[in-house]
Amino acid sequence: MPGLIDRFGRVHDYLRISVTDRCNLRCLYCMPEEGVEFTESSNLLSYDDIVEVARAGALLGISKLRITGGEPLVRPGLDGLIKRLAEIPGIRDIALTTNGIFLAKQAEALKKAGLNRVNISLDTLDHARFKFIARSGDLKRVMEGIEAAGAVGFDPIKLNCVLLKDINEDEIAAFLKLAFEQPLHVRFIEYMPIGHADENWRKMYLPLTRVLEIASREGYDIKRKENVKGNGPSDDWQIEGGRGSFGLIHPISDHFCKSCNRLRLTADGSVKPCLYWVDELNVKTALGNPEAMRELLLRAMDVKPENHEMAAKLADEAQSHVPTERRMSQIGG
Ligand code: GTP
Ligand code: 5AD
Ligand code: SF4
Repeated sequence: MPGLIDRFGRVHDYLRISVTDRCNLRCLYCMPEEGVEFTESSNLLSYDDIVEVARAGALLGISKLRITGGEPLVRPGLDGLIKRLAEIPGIRDIALTTNGIFLAKQAEALKKAGLNRVNISLDTLDHARFKFIARSGDLKRVMEGIEAAGAVGFDPIKLNCVLLKDINEDEIAAFLKLAFEQPLHVRFIEYMPIGHADENWRKMYLPLTRVLEIASREGYDIKRKENVKGNGPSDDWQIEGGRGSFGLIHPISDHFCKSCNRLRLTADGSVKPCLYWVDELNVKTALGNPEAMRELLLRAMDVKPENHEMAAKLADEAQSHVPTERRMSQIGG
């Protein structure tokens, strides 16, 4: 049976499922302080709907799922969804991306339900700065979430650190030290201009070459690392003699679209072939009809573009197509 192969020969085995566009934080790179218009709960895909889409995906070769938001842990009963997803034949890896605030409470139930891995956002190690970047919440609770994730046995535990020029740039060395001392995989991420109405990101964008400069300045002996469990775009490094490792996610300075293997499902029921562009397919039209769902997922392969144009956007050059107006919180990263 033909799988999910797009016009550029890329095989898709990874589906990112956003279960909500709501979030308890307002990180400045993700959502405006006043929030956005959230999807009415009656318009969200139900857990039954999500399982139906994932099942259709698995029949076409999807084997890895990632649950995202907004903040996925604000949607009640997530462990129940994960249990059902884990039972789908062909699904071999289920991961979660979370801001960590509610993780300590839910880690054990999620693990029991069949969740394999967690990626936790952590942009700063400083309590006051956390309040500035996340505009809400408490760093202490994220740290408790990271600890709980380790205690219940999630492995690896990845930390997502979006680097922001003049805001947390001075913490690169501290994050490298964390990766050296703890069994954690710290990923530095370039700030992406997704669905931004404002242009503030331009001032805050920082290319990740800076991380390699700091690693060298701090005297770390680093080598490429090939075997970090995952299915995303990270370029991974190990630190000689260290307990952890680090990764670089650099969509702008060096994009990784050639190896793109993923589709996204938004909480309000759209399949997004690419994070960046406007194109979407509405799965609600195919619910209850396995053949229509299969055709819709295959159609996403025909619509999928070759790459994004974030670098052109940074340089203020014209775009060849229409970028999405959804914010990151409405896509799930
Ligand atoms: P692993 O399976 O652990 O490798 O996870 P992942 O890196 O795919 O997922 P995660 O949700 O932790 O995302 C980390 C960062 O990578 C976020 O900033 C995402 O927005 C970004 N990211 C993930 N997939 C893509 C992609 O296809 N394109 C771009 N431009 N960014 C992506
Ligand atoms: N650029 C880069 N990464 C982002 N994330 C959210 N918004 C952005 C952005 N504009 C990250 C979050 C989370 C993951 C889902 O995406 O920090 O770790
Ligand atoms: Fe894939 Fe689009 Fe991300 Fe490029 S920007 S890696 S094509 S989803």
